[in-house]
Formats: sequence, C-alpha cells, structure tokens
Amino acid sequence: MNEVFTDRIVIVGAGLGALYAALKLAPHPVVVVSPESLGKGTSSSWAQGGVAAAMDPADSPKDHARDTVNAGAGVVDAEVAELVTQEARDYILDLTSMGTPFDRTKDGGYVLSREAAHGFARVVRVKGDQAGAGIMGALIEQVRATPSIQVLEGMMAVALDVDAGRVTGIEIQDADEDSAPVMLRGTGVLLAGGGSGGLYALTTNPPRIRGQVIGMAARAGALIADAEFVQFHPTAMDVGEDPAPLATEALRGEGAILINRHSERFMQAVHPDAELAPRDVVARAIFAQVQAGNCPVLDTRKDIGAHITDLFPSVVEHCVRNGIDPVNDPIPIAPAAHYHMGGVKTGTDGRASLRGLWVCGEASSTGLHGANRLASNGLLEALVYARICALSIAADLGEVKIANPIDIQFETCGVRADPKAVAELRKTMTQFVGVVRDAEGLTTALRKIATLEASQRDSASFLNMCATATLIAASALVRQESRGAHERSDFPVASEKFAQRSQMLFAEALTI
Ligand code: SIN
Repeated sequence: MNEVFTDRIVIVGAGLGALYAALKLAPHPVVVVSPESLGKGTSSSWAQGGVAAAMDPADSPKDHARDTVNAGAGVVDAEVAELVTQEARDYILDLTSMGTPFDRTKDGGYVLSREAAHGFARVVRVKGDQAGAGIMGALIEQVRATPSIQVLEGMMAVALDVDAGRVTGIEIQDADEDSAPVMLRGTGVLLAGGGSGGLYALTTNPPRIRGQVIGMAARAGALIADAEFVQFHPTAMDVGEDPAPLATEALRGEGAILINRHSERFMQAVHPDAELAPRDVVARAIFAQVQAGNCPVLDTRKDIGAHITDLFPSVVEHCVRNGIDPVNDPIPIAPAAHYHMGGVKTGTDGRASLRGLWVCGEASSTGLHGANRLASNGLLEALVYARICALSIAADLGEVKIANPIDIQFETCGVRADPKAVAELRKTMTQFVGVVRDAEGLTTALRKIATLEASQRDSASFLNMCATATLIAASALVRQESRGAHERSDFPVASEKFAQRSQMLFAEALTI
C-alpha cells in the first residue's frame, strides 16, 4: 500500500465538529478528509432546529443541564451535561462572530425556539429551520480562508493502523471506493465523521452517514459506548423519499399537533406534555399508530397556518416537492433513525481508548445524551468537544509545525460494496433493530449482518458499516430492559441492574 507522510493532523469528516476543530487547531496544520464537497452530505448541514443554549436571562445552564439529564432516562453523565451546557452561550457568541446569521429579535437578542423536553425556549436558530446550513455556511467560509487547513474532497477514511495501542496511520480511499486505499501517516487523528442513521432503511441522515467512522474505530479496537441507543426522530415525513425529509420538532414547539386517521390527538393519552413529550416517547407512540394502520399526521394548520412559509421554509420545500400543501394539508409522518447517542467512547479530554485518537460530534459517545438526546444538544456537543479535542491535540503536539500540502495519488482499483447488500443491511436494521426490539429479532439481525459481512469482505467501508450494525444489535440484546430510545418488547420496563452506560469492544460483540 502506498504511504503518505505528513505533519498535519488528520480530521475525518467535514461536519460541524470537524470544521470547528480545524479552525480551533489553527495554526497547527490539519487535513480535513471530506467524502463530498464541503457543505454537502453532512448531518450538520441538514440540521433544522438549531443549537440549544440558555440565552434568555430567565433561563440558566443549570436548568439546561437538568433537562438534559432528565431526558436521558437515567444514564446521562451529569458532569458532562454540566460541562457542555455551562458555556453554550459562549459558543453561540463565537459562531455569531464567525458570521452565522442567527435569527435575531428587534432589540438584538436571539430568537429562541421551543423543542420537546426543554423546560424553556432555548434553541437558537437560523432562518426558522435552517440552522445547520447557516452555521456550516459561515464555517466553510472561515475554513477556506485559513491557510493551515487543507481539505481533501471526495475521499473517505476506511481503516486505522494501530501499533501497541497507538494509532499510527489511517487508510484513505476514494469516497466511491473506486480506488484502493493509501496510508496517510499524520501527527494525530480526530474522528468527526458523523453517526449511523443511514444504517437504517428509514432515516433522516444524508446517504453516506452509515456508521462507517464508528465501525472503523471499533474494528481497530476502540471501545464503543451506548451503541444500543439510537434515536428515532418522531416526525420524519412519510413520503417515500430516501432519506426521509425531516419535519422539525420546532413545529410542535409552535403548536403543531399529532392526529391519526380517526382525528384523535393521540399524544394526549400518552404523556402529560402531549406533543412535547420526550422524543423517545413521541417516537414510540407514532410507531404504534403506524403499526396499527392509523396513518399519523402532523397538523400545522391551526396554530401555524400560513406562517409556516416564513417560519419553516425547509419544511415547506420538502412538502411542496412531495405534493403536500402544508398550509392546507396535514403532513404524513413516521419515526426514522436520526441520531446515534452511542459511538466511540470519548473522555472529557476528547480522547478515545486508543492513543493518538480523538473523537467529537455524533461519532463520539461522551455520556451527554444518555438513552435519549435532548433536541438540539447534538450541534452544541459537537462544538464543545471539537474545541476540547483541539486543545488536547494542540497540547500533545507542542510547537506549530509547517506542513506542505498533501498530494494523494490513487493508483489501483477499489472494490465497491454490492448495493443490494447495503440495502439488505439497512432493511435488517429497520426490521429487527428499530423502534421496538426483542431477543428473537436482535438474534436474527446479528445472524443476517454476519452473513452480509462475509459476502463483502473486500469493501472496507461495508465492513465498517457491519461492525457498527453488529455493535448496535449486540448491545441491544445485552440490555435486557427498556430505557429511553431502547425499547424491548420482551423486557418492557427499566431495570436498576442496567442503570448505567454500556461499553463494548467489537471483538466482544462478535461473540454475542
Ligand atoms: C429537529 O429539528 O427536530 C431536530 C433537532 C435535533 O435533532 O436536534
């Protein structure tokens, strides 16, 4: 295999965590490995809601931390919740200074949306429902203007090289697997390549976000935490698109209601907070309606009405593309895989269990989200941990080096995974490892994943997907209880015995 040596830190991924870390590392030289052109194909760019932060003088980081802990169903690391929420305001101010066009009030404050399980309106937004695109647009401009940052577009990372517990290199491949990998040996590796939503047939995540980064770290021996906790967004639009467009939770914050084909407002019988109950509760209730053939819909007509066009332009665009007029029609919805609370186990210094490896964003599992992430805490966590990782890496590196641009030449041909195998994997995850699970289904899933993995041994990217899928199913099988987003029909209540975070090595998952 060709080897390329560099004095740059290798950052895998190009979402919020990756770009913010690259900027915070400057002037240390970095190379950002981005499967698509910057701004495309990351979950960050697709985020609708915004960034949670206690901005209102009547709100407080303590209250934000308390809501985070409560939503997480007993397994949030309270210290991490405090760490992330206490400086949230500073990150909003920093993003503002970088040019993020947050929605502002006439007196210069921030417009704040309300989302489920938040005790306060504290979601800072851009153009109503375009927070991700607005923030990423500002960061991309900064990245393009920062000489220490090189971006390799159209490439992905597929394997880590580990020697005596230390990461010494990373294999890079053309993002479509058209080339065989090249080994890149830099001064450190930061994984910020997103979560696992696309491992499911029904997902709100961009097409390339399929657990590859978590799987790559797992296959290299990194410890994975909370893998069983996959968040299903309650209101993905059920319009037959893959990925499913999102109807942001902020719609419910503005008064949109959930009804079924019998015109029942079914959440009222499920939870005192009705449509603003924690996300896992709403997702399960909608799933039950779908299973019962009750065709649940999100009805924005009464409380939002014609304002939807100004307040939620992305949602309107998705509706119109699918022949729905949201001013006059309700929106068909179903739960879809949206966010992975689990990931590479990450300490409060951003380090993974392997030396020379840092992780931030959805690929990480810091303990902030527990079994059920509070809405709009994902972007916040990415920001906070990107900075933590940058400080930690810079401290390890010491003085700033000068690095030449990297030139990667791919010479030999790669092997693509069979799209049928990818589709089968995604179908398996939705059918057996979805909103409601049981031992029989999880065991079936593990068997099917192993068969698929064996059929595609030459596609490293597919093996990474299978590793993450295996870890999700195995951890879900071991957790014999229901907690947050992890619902077991054969163990329907939470058990004290399992009231802690899980952790697992890939090698262990293979024995379950
Ligand atoms: C949403 O806008 O509903 C999603 C926000 C999030 O997942 O944090």
